[in-house]
Amino acid sequence: MAAKIEASKQAAAKAPTLTAAPAGKVAAAPAPTAKTAAAKPAAEGKKLAAAPSTHQAGEKLYKSACVACHSTGVANAPKLGDKAAWAPRLAEGEEQIMEIAFKGKGAMPPRGASSADDATIKAAVEYMLSTVQ
Ligand code: HEC
Repeated sequence: MAAKIEASKQAAAKAPTLTAAPAGKVAAAPAPTAKTAAAKPAAEGKKLAAAPSTHQAGEKLYKSACVACHSTGVANAPKLGDKAAWAPRLAEGEEQIMEIAFKGKGAMPPRGASSADDATIKAAVEYMLSTVQ
């Protein structure tokens, strides 16, 4: 009797391990796929929704954070719409322009001393560039 109980106890102890392994495996496989599938449309939806408003946010940021220096050319800041000032910068490439906008250079403070997010700063630079292209 005691041996039988012991045996069934062992069987019971073993049972969860045996059933858990394949169950865990099966459940784990589709989980990441489901996650990526769910995350993707969400990110795409965000991107689509952000497109028109980001441009406006860029102009808004320019008018609040960048205009102080970039409208009058404080400390030789390239002025809005001043093609001559922007030409050598555009020749360096937009990537370089963005890098300076984020990291700063000389009197240009990193991110124009603003606390705007990356997309908005990028949009502000694009707004500035749109006036000289
Ligand atoms: C305190 C003044 C000041 C403010 C505020 C400022 N800038 Fe500037 N910015 C400068 C100066 C000065 C330069 C020229 C730096 C140089 O070439 O030495 C410059 C240069 C730049 C350039 C050209 C980078 C290149 O390729 O040479 C970009 C783009 C730029 N600023 C973007 C911005 C944006 C976007 C903002 C607002 C979020 C901003 N700046 C706010 C002073 C300012």
